[in-house]
Amino acid sequence: MKSKKLFFLIALLIAGLYLVGCGKKEGAKTGEMKMIEVPATYADKHMPQGGWTDEKVIAAGKELYDGKKNIDVNCAACHGLNGIPVLTGTRDLRDASRVNMWSDSYWYWRVAEGVPDTAMTGWKEKLSEEEIWQVIAYARTFSQKGK
Ligand code: HEC
Repeated sequence: MKSKKLFFLIALLIAGLYLVGCGKKEGAKTGEMKMIEVPATYADKHMPQGGWTDEKVIAAGKELYDGKKNIDVNCAACHGLNGIPVLTGTRDLRDASRVNMWSDSYWYWRVAEGVPDTAMTGWKEKLSEEEIWQVIAYARTFSQKGK
């Protein structure tokens, strides 16, 4: 009886450690859908009024995304023109089931800081705040086709 209890405790401990270990990963490759909390410094970021649907903002974002405005910034090199990924492991920005879960601040944080230990580097040194919102507004259109 006692050894059964002990076994149960050990099993619980292993399960607990396993969960903690998974929580540390940034989640993308594990297909984990739970949202990661946005750090406090980015939590208050919001798309400027009307930016998600402003055609001028989206057009400016496309120039950036496609690498036409700044040769150092070329999202399409990995995420592909029109959001069809060209690099294995790249987030598919057409996946609405995922993209629709992202808040403004989540988008901003990820584009500004990147995703640690992946090819997705941060862009805050190369893009102004306004440009980050522009590229986000364009990148989001891939998942909103026909809407
Ligand atoms: C060198 C290749 C590369 C470039 C260039 C690149 N990305 Fe990424 N991006 C990736 C990869 C790889 C991932 C997936 C990271 C991961 O495993 O979570 C990613 C993920 C993302 C994500 C999702 C983050 C998440 O939490 O799932 C967004 C949004 C994104 N990129 C936007 C952009 C934008 C906007 C640009 C241009 C300013 C850009 N990326 C440029 C490779 C790239």
